[in-house]
Amino acid sequence: MIERIHQDLMETFKDDPGRLKHIFGVKETALKLAQNIPNIDQDKLIIAAYLHDITKGKSQKYHQDMITSYFSNDILKAYTPPLYHAFSAAAYAQATYDIKDDTILDAIKHHTVGRPAMPLIEKIIFISDYIEPNRPYKVCQEVREIAFQDIDLAVYHAINNSINLFSEEKHIIPKIAYAARDYYKVTSGQDPIFETDRLSFYFAQKNDAPIFHRWWNDGNLMVSVGFEDGLNISLQKIEQQIEKSFIDPEATKLMIVYHKATKTPLGEASFGEFNPKDKSMRIGLKIGDLTQQGKGYGKELTRGLCQYIKTAYHVNTIYIDTLLDNKRAQKLYESLGAETLEIKRRFWKDPKGKWRDVIFYRLKGGNHG
Ligand SMILES: [Fe+2]
Ligand SMILES: [Fe+2]
Repeated sequence: MIERIHQDLMETFKDDPGRLKHIFGVKETALKLAQNIPNIDQDKLIIAAYLHDITKGKSQKYHQDMITSYFSNDILKAYTPPLYHAFSAAAYAQATYDIKDDTILDAIKHHTVGRPAMPLIEKIIFISDYIEPNRPYKVCQEVREIAFQDIDLAVYHAINNSINLFSEEKHIIPKIAYAARDYYKVTSGQDPIFETDRLSFYFAQKNDAPIFHRWWNDGNLMVSVGFEDGLNISLQKIEQQIEKSFIDPEATKLMIVYHKATKTPLGEASFGEFNPKDKSMRIGLKIGDLTQQGKGYGKELTRGLCQYIKTAYHVNTIYIDTLLDNKRAQKLYESLGAETLEIKRRFWKDPKGKWRDVIFYRLKGGNHG
């Protein structure tokens, strides 16, 4: 099969020597990266490398037709047109070579912006596409040097560079790229994700679940968000939620916030409903350690979180909401310059069956106060 694909490549790109050079560069780089990895399937690497850009010269209509017939319309919504070729190439691999192996198909599909938790072959193809020697850019060469030492760190830099480049060029960036960037930032050991004067912010991990379990089931703490008996949620459920928040691009991201000095847990921050098109996001926060209230941590946490999502996700509109009964939260958000969008009466029925009113705010990027 490899020989057939090779001939196909030579024919498809006979008038595009640059593309051919790139594709062979990806193959060579992938094999070099795999050199010291035992038991890696080199044939799969070669097939994925050969086919990753096979439909690159095709029309927009071709990409769309292939994607809708082999996968789903959701891909057209989740990705931007310049990235469609990855999915039409995977469809082509299925159609032309009857390739059913998900390792190969996924490596082709995700070679443009990656995704969280890529299997090894997928990760190698992704990074090889970025660093192959014919890439002229200096940033690619810098990542190349890292890739042979620490592939996760290289993947992080590659995705982060791409996000920043797309953003400068005013392209819409798929959410999955941000999720992948965050994932590899953590797996390459770059914790905490960010810090403020007194606080350190980490993406929640499975081993943080007992802390959330304590907080979320504590009625004294949860009464302010409408659960006077706590959430009554199991440790296992929380572990699943944390896992999802870290992997799924659509899920709300959960962060745990520590005191920088004492390394003790203070509270949580979350952000979701990310809309890369209108550059908006909804945030939430909670101080889990009630003894720490009244020390300005809520303000520091909110401001830090806003600053972070503004730079890391290129967001400029931030939404936040709270129960109308929660005067402490309203005072905090208003002190940060939040403007009231609306008050929705009887918006939510709490577990005791009582209707609750909710106030919705917009925080303009968190520069206020
Ligand atoms: Fe490509
Ligand atoms: Fe490529």
